[in-house]
Amino acid sequence: MSAISINTPEEYQKAYKKSIEQPEQFWEEIASELLWQKRWDKVLEWNFAEPSVKWFIGGRMNITENCLDRHLSQRGNQTAIIWEPNDPRDKARKITYSELYSQVCHFSNVLLRNGVRKGDRVCIYMPMIPELTIAVLACARIGAIHSVVFAGFSAQSVADRINDSQCSLVITADGLRRGARQSGVKTVVDEALKQCQSVHRVIVFNHLGWEPNMVSGRDVWWHTEMQQVDGDCKAEAMDAEDMLFILYTSGSTGKPKGVVHTCGGYTVYMEYTFRNVFQLREKDVFWCTADVGWVTGHSYLVYGPLLAGTTTVMFEGIPTWPDAGRFWQVIDKHQVNIFYTAPTAIRSLMAAGVDHVLSASLSSLRVLGSVGEPINEEAWHWYNLHVGKERCPIVDTWWQTETGGIMISSLAGVTASKPSHAGNPLPGIQPVLLNNQGEVIEENGVEGYLAIRFPWPSMIRTTYGDHERCRVNYFDTYKGYYFTGDGAKRDEHGLYRIIGRVDDVINVSGHRFGTAEIENAINQSKHVVESAVVGYPHDIKGQGIYAFVICEVTPDNPELLREEIYESVSREIGRIAKPDKIQFVSGLPKTRSGKIMRRILRKVAEGELSNLGDTSTLLDPLVVDQIVAERIL
Ligand code: PRX
Repeated sequence: MSAISINTPEEYQKAYKKSIEQPEQFWEEIASELLWQKRWDKVLEWNFAEPSVKWFIGGRMNITENCLDRHLSQRGNQTAIIWEPNDPRDKARKITYSELYSQVCHFSNVLLRNGVRKGDRVCIYMPMIPELTIAVLACARIGAIHSVVFAGFSAQSVADRINDSQCSLVITADGLRRGARQSGVKTVVDEALKQCQSVHRVIVFNHLGWEPNMVSGRDVWWHTEMQQVDGDCKAEAMDAEDMLFILYTSGSTGKPKGVVHTCGGYTVYMEYTFRNVFQLREKDVFWCTADVGWVTGHSYLVYGPLLAGTTTVMFEGIPTWPDAGRFWQVIDKHQVNIFYTAPTAIRSLMAAGVDHVLSASLSSLRVLGSVGEPINEEAWHWYNLHVGKERCPIVDTWWQTETGGIMISSLAGVTASKPSHAGNPLPGIQPVLLNNQGEVIEENGVEGYLAIRFPWPSMIRTTYGDHERCRVNYFDTYKGYYFTGDGAKRDEHGLYRIIGRVDDVINVSGHRFGTAEIENAINQSKHVVESAVVGYPHDIKGQGIYAFVICEVTPDNPELLREEIYESVSREIGRIAKPDKIQFVSGLPKTRSGKIMRRILRKVAEGELSNLGDTSTLLDPLVVDQIVAERIL
């Protein structure tokens, strides 16, 4: 019996118990099933005070040998990636494990040829095409640290991320297609690089046949470089604690931070969680709809499925183009068995009516998954009834960029599942709920701040270049715990239900933004003096962005000013962070010490006007009346 597989409730109970009582033996057995170039000397050393967490100390390995090389003898001819293009009339691509291996080795040699060495940072800014996966794996193969930036982020965001980790090379493409829209990608990189000194080379994949401006001495074509190299590339022997990747994510303060994951623990945890949560079977076709630019794409589109030797679907387009039946058509077309998507997508397809989903068969589906934000009961039931036909278990997986992989979730069809509840912790995960005093609440049927009391292999190691920021953000609020930033309930059976963020982070369509980050972007707009941003419940996106903005003078043409603000947010962050509502105000509710009372603004945005709380401590209580009177519905 493999130490990795859990297929019954009893096996779950047994695994969970062992993971608590003997965590080191527990993880050691699982890690032993992977390919290591050198076995570890010690399983774990940790303290959450610094924090310092090290797994599989002294071990050497390479994640790509586990994703590719070890599958070649058994599954060389099996499809590794099915790529579904944006336009359904274009041909899908199927790439076998052997072909993927060859492409990755070739591209690894391209990176080496272009001066990239172990430990160098490489920024990947690409559309959803197989070459994105190839680029990621090639970095990992030679020990370069990849920093993938979602292709919806603006030039300024790209520049900030490149500069923060001093990337030496950028991998990109000419352009991207999303639904009816095409847009430049290389042009964004060109704009970003005006601010970046560290980049000496840009490799451009020719996706759309465009002819972007190529800067001589800096920019080279992917295809011409690939012709210069052969396909022999030995995988770098990575220390288990060497960095594998950096992924930037938003927090409640300052600019996005570079979450760092390391090689050994991440590899172990991805294969383990992927197989068990989705109850993987041989020959499964797995489709995760997330973009590789987010952690879900890293862990469960690229690494998890390839580690497990499954077939992973990569989709270039959007759920609503050419019509709202696209997801369902793709499931039938590629006979997808496991489908993993976000509540925001489910809600938007729900809003498009049930006909689209009813016109597809969906008979290949066996397991459904949800990720990124709380799934409301209505969406859960619709997903269960119309997509799963009430025969596919739904896994509601709670986790974060910082946790690397799924933390709390049912195991499909094996452990207890309840609408809108993530469920039980996975083996090895020790969640706690804390009260306002930071004390552990032991009983069930309670609500509190969600924290984790023991390390797991794929947890965040540091925030790139600023370890103190990691300590303060995650390990300082409640001493001795990793604090998630989420609030949660635990029902009478011990199942967890995630309520949402308790910090100044807004989750829009499953994407994280800090309120401070959006405010900074709004404040760059020329007539804006100050702004305050809060989240509010949004039918489709989960949360919408509501901005309260003070201008130099009362705007004559508020629409024009709104456009300027959109423009500013698009420039600083990207269109994905555009406020849904902008209200111009003459003042903000501030305490005498100048702190904005966001609690009041949140209530106004939520339309909960009957209970605004005590406003007497405000510097100017009258501003609240004006804000309420002019609120945007
Ligand atoms: O608030 C939680 C929410 O998404 C946050 C993490 O965002 P990010 O790092 O971008 O990763 C998203 C994909 C893993 C969490 O702090 N979240 C994630 N999954 C769920 C969720 N909220 C409720 N239920 C979930 N299943």
